[in-house]
Amino acid sequence: MSILPVLEFPDPQLRNIAKPVLHVDSKIKAIVDDMFETMYEAHGVGLAAIQVNVKLQIIVIDVSEEKNERLCFINPEIVSEFGQEESDEGCLSVPGVFEPIQRAEKITVKATNREGILFELEADGLLAVCIQHEIDHLNGKLFVDYLSPLKRQRIKKKMLKLQKRDK
Ligand code: NI
Repeated sequence: MSILPVLEFPDPQLRNIAKPVLHVDSKIKAIVDDMFETMYEAHGVGLAAIQVNVKLQIIVIDVSEEKNERLCFINPEIVSEFGQEESDEGCLSVPGVFEPIQRAEKITVKATNREGILFELEADGLLAVCIQHEIDHLNGKLFVDYLSPLKRQRIKKKMLKLQKRDK
């Protein structure tokens, strides 16, 4: 297993669109395992393959306190949603930024797991927010896209400044 570099906003690669996974083989499983390791290392609750520059529809999530409830969604699809809720979101690709974003309150998601088995899951709370946030990544979308252009511009400037300093 290895820790993968995470792309940071405004890297244009974050706008790539992920393709469906055709077969969950050992190569895919290795990507999933690397993604979990990368997410845990960065103290994140979710990570989408696009963020580590892998253009496949793969998401890993763990919203548990003990970090022992791995959820892997391959080719995820939201099949129903209900209600609306606003909560503060952050992103490993936009470090240090937290903004309130509106999402569906409850969702039902259909996906394939790491073993290649199709499953359906009902989610609410942080898990529902996280799934919606990560599916956005697979479509080249970031949570800052929901903010006003002015706010997004400010965040972009701040990120570029930090990235310049880190070089
Ligand atoms: Ni994110």
